[in-house]
Amino acid sequence: MDVTSGQGMIRGKQTSARAGDLAAGKASYTTFCAKCHGDSGKGNGSAGASLQTRPHDFTNCADMTPMPNDMLFKVIKDGGAASSLSSEMPAWKDAFEDSEIKDLVAYVRSFCKK
Ligand code: HEC
Repeated sequence: MDVTSGQGMIRGKQTSARAGDLAAGKASYTTFCAKCHGDSGKGNGSAGASLQTRPHDFTNCADMTPMPNDMLFKVIKDGGAASSLSSEMPAWKDAFEDSEIKDLVAYVRSFCKK
């Protein structure tokens, strides 16, 4: 998978605020998220097939762009149920610091290449 172009794109958008570290986000994603969301973000990880609710395709900009960063952050931190989504999406607040969740948001965003 080529994240290099996405990386440049996101970095280009960054101003002074730290918007998330893509490399760190990728490492966490590959370990903890890819089994459901898939290495390529399409929601086709090994466990993805047995989910009742299919996660969004992170590469689909039409689906992902309207979701604000705050929303993605909250879903990752507090789990799907807290946002009226499927409880199959676990809460990660005990696993990650807020800064690490921001890294994950940045990495999730990087799948949509426009
Ligand atoms: C056990 C499977 C599973 C794991 C592991 C998992 N997710 Fe999810 N995730 C889901 C499902 C299912 C949804 C869809 C919830 C819905 O739309 O009702 C979801 C939804 C999301 C969403 C909201 C967008 C969407 O698809 O609805 C984000 C963002 C997300 N997950 C990120 C992550 C990140 C980051 C990790 C790793 C830290 C992770 N997920 C780990 C199953 C999982």
